[in-house]
Amino acid sequence: GDGGTDYYEITQKAAKVEILPGLRTEIWGYDGIFPGPTLVSRRGRRTVVTHRNELPVPVVVHLHGGRTAPEHDGYPTDVIAPGGGKDYVYAMEQHAATLWYHDHRMDFTGPQVYRGLAGFHLIHDDAEEALGLPRGRRDIPLMILDRSFAADGSFRYPSLDPTLTKTPGVTGTYMSGVLGDCVLVNGAPWPVLDVSTVRYRFRLLNASNARRYRLRLDGGPGFTQIGSDQGLLAAPVEHESIEIAQAERFDVVVDFSGHRVGDEITLVNEHGSGGTAEVMRFRVTRQESDDRVVPDRLADVETLSAGAVTAEREFVFARGGAHAHGMSLWTVNGKPFDPETIVARPKLGATERWIIRAKNVEHPIHIHLAPFQVVGTDGDDDPGPFNHGWKDTVNLDNGGRAEILIRFDGYRGRYVFHCHNLEHEDMMMMANFEVV
Ligand code: C2O
Ligand code: CU
Ligand code: CU
Repeated sequence: GDGGTDYYEITQKAAKVEILPGLRTEIWGYDGIFPGPTLVSRRGRRTVVTHRNELPVPVVVHLHGGRTAPEHDGYPTDVIAPGGGKDYVYAMEQHAATLWYHDHRMDFTGPQVYRGLAGFHLIHDDAEEALGLPRGRRDIPLMILDRSFAADGSFRYPSLDPTLTKTPGVTGTYMSGVLGDCVLVNGAPWPVLDVSTVRYRFRLLNASNARRYRLRLDGGPGFTQIGSDQGLLAAPVEHESIEIAQAERFDVVVDFSGHRVGDEITLVNEHGSGGTAEVMRFRVTRQESDDRVVPDRLADVETLSAGAVTAEREFVFARGGAHAHGMSLWTVNGKPFDPETIVARPKLGATERWIIRAKNVEHPIHIHLAPFQVVGTDGDDDPGPFNHGWKDTVNLDNGGRAEILIRFDGYRGRYVFHCHNLEHEDMMMMANFEVV
């Protein structure tokens, strides 16, 4: 890197925007927009993001997928009070990747993200740019999420008003998480993108609180996956459809060259029905050709070796073991989140094997700081079709099990790992590890 620094300033504030035609929706947005502005960093250049909080509630900013010092990682109790501000400093020593930033306030992440506090943060580097992948107007991040609306256009989040005091860990009776009945892409319902007969790069992010998608291009080509949560894969992987859990990213290339002007291709969600079955449309409006390619080799991806493992741990994500107001909470190894309790102390630089299991319902599990590789799923010795490359979030079915190799590089300090069903997270399905 060149050792320089890039600066961004973001004001978190309420705003009214038009999401549904003719209606005004109040959002809480980064710079008052939803999604927030897409930030761009360069590997090797530090990025400082100054956040100002003009919202009526405390906020916390987490850069999801960032290898970040603990004091800048957005620990759930590390809040910016209303009227306050904070400089978040990101080293950006990691590879080109599709990251995103979102609220992470203890007990309130679900409602605060639901109101709009989420945005993309992309990292570029020289190695990625040398590949000749689609770029510029043909490199498009797509933030997919679901929301419900009241008749006046306001977001309907079925919980207590988050500006009021609430019982820690209790967000109402939505034990499986809050599902919306309308899918939005980059903040718009059922949008249409005009495309030419060339290749596009789409950075798919599922930013939903609790919904998982199975994405397929109806009447169109398949997806060529080139990247996962943490950056480029070693080699491209073809998919007919993509299973994407909350917080996961799939970096894909879609080739529209087999189409002709006038064709319309629909991105559908095979898990959905009604308003959640269709996601967006691509309308072919121009005949063009391009020189963009997807090389057979994308990146040198180190494979973590089982021989390097110095500790093995098991974490069960399930309901029960603790209660609040007669409701059983979502827990990790039977314990609800407690900022003072550390459940694992990996050594800096150590590689560990973690067995992660999910019970009662599906749980997408996310680990801060340390990227990992999935080496086994549900008893098989392979990562499964959707866990290639470096990950920071792994999607588990009810009863599912993942075996991961994880290396704790970067910083000493306390970090969280948790279920990324945001209502489960708020209902205490989170724990601390401390890199020592
Ligand atoms: Cu995307 Cu701890 O979160
Ligand atoms: Cu994270
Ligand atoms: Cu969960």
